[in-house]
Order: sequence, then C-alpha cells, then structure tokens
Amino acid sequence: MTAHGIVDASHSHVLPPEFDRRYPMIVAGDGVWVQDAAGRRYLDAMSGGSMALTLGHGRRDLIEAARAQAQQLAFVHNERLTNPAQEQLARELTAVAPEGMERVHFVTGGAEANECALRLARSYHVERGEPSRWRVISPAQAYHGPTMATLALTGRAGLQGPLTPYLQEQPHIPPSTWRFDPSGEEALAALDRALEQVGPETVSAFFCEAVSAAALPAYTPPPRFWEGLAERRERHGFLICFDEVVTGMGRTGSWFAADKLPFTPDIIATAKGLGAGYAAIGATICHERVYDAIAAGSRRFTLGHTWDGAPLPCAVGIAVIDALRRSRLIERVAKRGERLRRELSEALAGVGMVREVRGHGFLLGVEYVDPRDGESFLPSELGVAGRIDDVALERGLVILSTQPTGDGYAGDQSLFAPPFTTTDEELAEMVSRFAGVVRDVADAVERELAGRKPVPQPIPAADAQ
Ligand SMILES: Cc1ncc(COP(=O)(O)O)c(C=O)c1O
Repeated sequence: MTAHGIVDASHSHVLPPEFDRRYPMIVAGDGVWVQDAAGRRYLDAMSGGSMALTLGHGRRDLIEAARAQAQQLAFVHNERLTNPAQEQLARELTAVAPEGMERVHFVTGGAEANECALRLARSYHVERGEPSRWRVISPAQAYHGPTMATLALTGRAGLQGPLTPYLQEQPHIPPSTWRFDPSGEEALAALDRALEQVGPETVSAFFCEAVSAAALPAYTPPPRFWEGLAERRERHGFLICFDEVVTGMGRTGSWFAADKLPFTPDIIATAKGLGAGYAAIGATICHERVYDAIAAGSRRFTLGHTWDGAPLPCAVGIAVIDALRRSRLIERVAKRGERLRRELSEALAGVGMVREVRGHGFLLGVEYVDPRDGESFLPSELGVAGRIDDVALERGLVILSTQPTGDGYAGDQSLFAPPFTTTDEELAEMVSRFAGVVRDVADAVERELAGRKPVPQPIPAADAQ
C-alpha cells in the first residue's frame, strides 16, 4: 500500500500471461478520459491504449457520420459493387498521401494493410517479369501485426513463439539506435550483407516503420540510413514499404511520417488513426508506378476481405479527415509535439533510469537503462515496464510500456501518445502523473539494484542470417 494507491512501486510486475491479467472494465469515455465500472476515471495518454483513438472519446461528428451512413447504406461487398463513401475516401486519402501515391485499397486494420502491401509488392515484380522476387528484408526490432506474414517480418522470436513453423524466414537488420549504430552505417552494411546473401534479384521489398511504435517507441533511423536505403532501392530494384499503421493520419505531425523523409516510398500501409477508434479500417496506398505495373499486365489483384471498402467504416474515415483538416489538428500536433517532448524531458530530468526521451509530434518514447552505468538494459526480472504501467493505472493514467529485451534490441521503454485533441491542461496533467510514476518506480529500482552487479544481457543475432 502506498500513499497513492494499492500498487507498490517497489514491487516487480513482470507482465503476467494473458489468462492471468486483470482487465479493468472501461464503461465510458469522454475526451481524453475513460471511466471504469466502479466510477474511477483515468487519463488516456495512449489514445485508447493502442494509439488508434487520435481524436478522443465521444466525438459527435464521427458518431453522426457512422449513424448517417448506416441509415443510408450500411454494407455492400466491393468485389462486384462499390459505394460513394469508399470512392470519396479513396480520393481524400490519396490527396493527402505523399506525391504520386494515387491508388488505395481499403482493409479492416493494420496487419491486413501490411499483408496487402506484401501482396502488392509481390504482384508488382511478378507483373514485371521478375517472379524470383519474394523476400522481404526488415528491421528486427519491429512489430507489424499478428498474422502469419506480418509476424514473419519481425525478428523478435519471442513474439513468434510456437508459430515459427508457419512463418517464412526473412532477413533482418539491427536498429540504428545510440546503443548499436548511431550513424546508420552498420544497418546499411547489414542490409548489404542481407542482399548479398540472398541475392538482390530475390528481394521484393524493404519493409519498415518510418517512425517506430511500441517495438522501439518513437525511434527513426538517422538520415544516412534513409539516404542509403533509397540508393539501394535504385540500385537493386526492390520496393520500399512503410508500415504507417500508427504514424499515418497525423500522429507524428504530418499526414504521413514519410512526408519528412528524403524519398517517397512505393507502398504505405496505414490503419489506426484512419478510423480514429470509431471504425475498423485500414488502407494500403501505392505509388502510381506500382499500380501501373499491374494495370499494364494481368490487371488482376484478387482476394479481399468481406469488410474491405465497406461504406460504414469509409464514412468514418471521411469524417476523420474532415476533422483533422477543419481543426488543423496535424499542425497542432507538429507544433505542440515539440514542446510536449521538452516538457516530458524536463519532468524526467535527473532520473538516472531515463536515458532518452525522443519523439515526433504526439508519438513520444522514453527509454530506460540501468541507472548504475546509464547504458545497460535493466535486469528483465525487475519488470520495470510492467511496473510503470501498473502504477500509472493505479494513479489514473493509461500508458503503454514494453520490455522486449528477451527477444529484441531494446530494453524497457514507454510510449506516450495522447489524442491530438488533448488540451494544454490535460497534457500538463498527463506529464505530471507520468513523471511521478517514473520517478517513484526509478527510486524503488535504485534501491533494489544497490549492491547487485550489472548482468550483461544477450543481444539477438538478427544481423542478416
Ligand atoms: C506498427 C504497427 N503495425 C501493425 C500493427 C497491427 O495492426 P492491427 O492490430 O490493426 O492489425 C500494429 C498494432 O499495434 C502496429 O503498432
């Protein structure tokens, strides 16, 4: 028992198995607040928990758009029929997508959007007479979804678990974080080795998050990596696919994170913010050159899901784009995000366990290290990530931390990703509650570590097997 609640910051909270977890029952949401069945209110600093709810809870415009569409036309299947909502959303989404990305296919979520990106990349090469291209190289420290093809794209064996027999082995490269490769040159060398090893003529795509989400909060490779990646695309003819499931639709302060990079990707997959938590919708957007290859070839792109392009989620997507534009929310995220990162840094200043506060727009990440040397991973048995989330919840704050040390290139870290509509006062309260939680957990961790020797953590060998 602490002064703040029943969770003791000095208790280890290694995340229990799903069957053993406690799931607070959330019964209502309003703006950036949610309320549980017992009437307790929580500040939602994670946009619904998974960064989807970009515009907050209880949006009348989105609710009304869904209601009106359901009344007019709830559903038609897009294999033989289309509908005005799908066509309008396609026009509006491609209008805000990077230059030249003119074609879109709607799906129902992030993993499906990524799978569709994989299918598109493969089709592009087959249509152009290069059926040998199928491999996908990607950073090991990533998450692209729980379906078999997307799970194969992460190098984190712990996420794949017993499913490996179903997963196609793909080459991976390590991240260019301060710990491994601050310049980006090592990752490029690993990419070259992977290309060499499998043969560049077998590579269909390089697949990555432009700015990472939970796997490596708010991390983006250094400029040299992006330049080198674009050079290699030119040289070897693979496509670049961006997983913008989290970053698309404004999260990092531009419509797409790709907008800030020195090249245009070939394919972008996006999802969460497109429905803003009010509808299950994702989209795969491709450059005209990808579409043209298929249009000039077989003109076939078969297989789809029942809900692809259905009117109801598309109507919500249109209302989301309208809200983002009308309230100039992406501009706000860009400007306010910079200040938010500074505020978070200041609030955490002097905490030995906090190595880095990074971020873009309203996608911020905090990286924790062993306070004794300021760089080693924290011992995983301390369960710092889980502890931070538990203490935060007890103090009425929803946050998401991860601890992929066992299967990846990152230790304990937290995401901080509030809805774009969060007021200045609410942001201040989120920062203050979060910093209080981190400080108390850090104090407890320092006490626990006193007198213990740091234990080196094994680093996975995901470098271009
Ligand atoms: C970066 C990223 N890609 C893909 C996904 C999978 O999206 P979904 O859960 O909508 O299938 C997620 C989900 O958290 C994600 O964060």
